[in-house]
Amino acid sequence: SGAVNLAVVPGDGIGPEVTAEALKVLEVAAPADLKFERTTYDLGAERYLATGEVLPDAVLEEIRGQDAILLGAVGGKPNDPNLPPGILERGLLLRLRFELDHYVNLRPSRLFPGAASPLSEAVLGKGEIDFVVVREGTEGPYTGNGGALRVGTPAEVATEVSVNTAFGVERVIRDAFARARKRPRKKLTLVHKTNVLVNAGAVWWRLFEEIAAEFPDVTTDYSHIDAVMIYLTTDPQRFDVIVTDNLFGDIVTDLAAAITGGIGLAASGNVNPDRTAPSMFEPVHGSAPDIAGQQVADPTAAILSGALLLDHLGHPDAAAKIEAAVLADLAERTPDQARRTPEVGDAIAARVAG
Ligand code: NAD
Ligand code: IPM
Ligand code: MN
Repeated sequence: SGAVNLAVVPGDGIGPEVTAEALKVLEVAAPADLKFERTTYDLGAERYLATGEVLPDAVLEEIRGQDAILLGAVGGKPNDPNLPPGILERGLLLRLRFELDHYVNLRPSRLFPGAASPLSEAVLGKGEIDFVVVREGTEGPYTGNGGALRVGTPAEVATEVSVNTAFGVERVIRDAFARARKRPRKKLTLVHKTNVLVNAGAVWWRLFEEIAAEFPDVTTDYSHIDAVMIYLTTDPQRFDVIVTDNLFGDIVTDLAAAITGGIGLAASGNVNPDRTAPSMFEPVHGSAPDIAGQQVADPTAAILSGALLLDHLGHPDAAAKIEAAVLADLAERTPDQARRTPEVGDAIAARVAG
């Protein structure tokens, strides 16, 4: 209850289209005594192309003072000559995740009834698919630690160094164990590539084993990232909570989305569990330049990200209302239906309003 200062970063491409629907649903789902005081930030490709600004320090500090952030998507068309690769991804999105210490990138995957999965009947028949990926959000190969030598010559060497600190690995593993403990199956799978990335693998494995001793009620498991690609397509039911590094977590969650109804449904939270800065909620997908501007993107992922936001702010009942409305909407979707983005938002908002 009270006022929530909400930073809204609609961003690029379909970002503004899906964010508008998420806001529509958030407003109707919020308890009557909770008011969102929104500030919209025009960060993204347009501002960068017009002014050269990506995330000015003063804007970052203003955002740091908000209670939560709702983000659409950032990034332009691949290989746009005016938009060097990574400018927005690194300078805006990753900078927010790093500066606001979003070390838990939470990405739930549940196959809701009515959502279409490309998996075979034989695989789907094994049972419910309901798992969550706890992706490390502040380290790994995402830190920008690397460089290039002799660029453009045949002797060119380019490196991106994966950073794994005991501090960073321990805190995300601990968070994942705590989340696993709260779920009925209480199972945590570490996903890595310890057979090849032996240095990073050693710290992940050792800390995983050490912390497991503090959570004797949680069943533990380990899979190499490549094998996880097999299991997600042949036996996804085996997963309950997955903990993994930043890059493996990025890749694994697009596949997880694809098998549970598609990228248009996948929500995420960039969470600062210590609450030293606002957490940020966003769909797993990007700016989808191929369909931007047409109002055909599915806003469900953004809407479900709004539910994660409400849950994080201590309103689990309001979050559950959104989830129930999405479930009901999905149950009535048919393959021949071509609803526009605002129609999906309206339908879900109407169900929330009940
Ligand atoms: P993408 O997720 O934008 O698109 C991949 C595919 O999924 C496309 O075919 C797209 O049309 C489809 N898709 C995505 N969201 C959809 C939705 N809501 N409804 C229906 N279809 C949807 O990934 P990409 O094409 O690899 O990247 C495009 C741009 O987005 C790049 O600049 C990339 O860096 C950026 N990106 C940003 C984020 C983010 O802001 N969090 C995430 C991923 C990619
Ligand atoms: C995501 C995106 C980002 C990531 C990019 C755009 C930096 O793919 O949120 O999954 O790799 O984390
Ligand atoms: Mn991604």
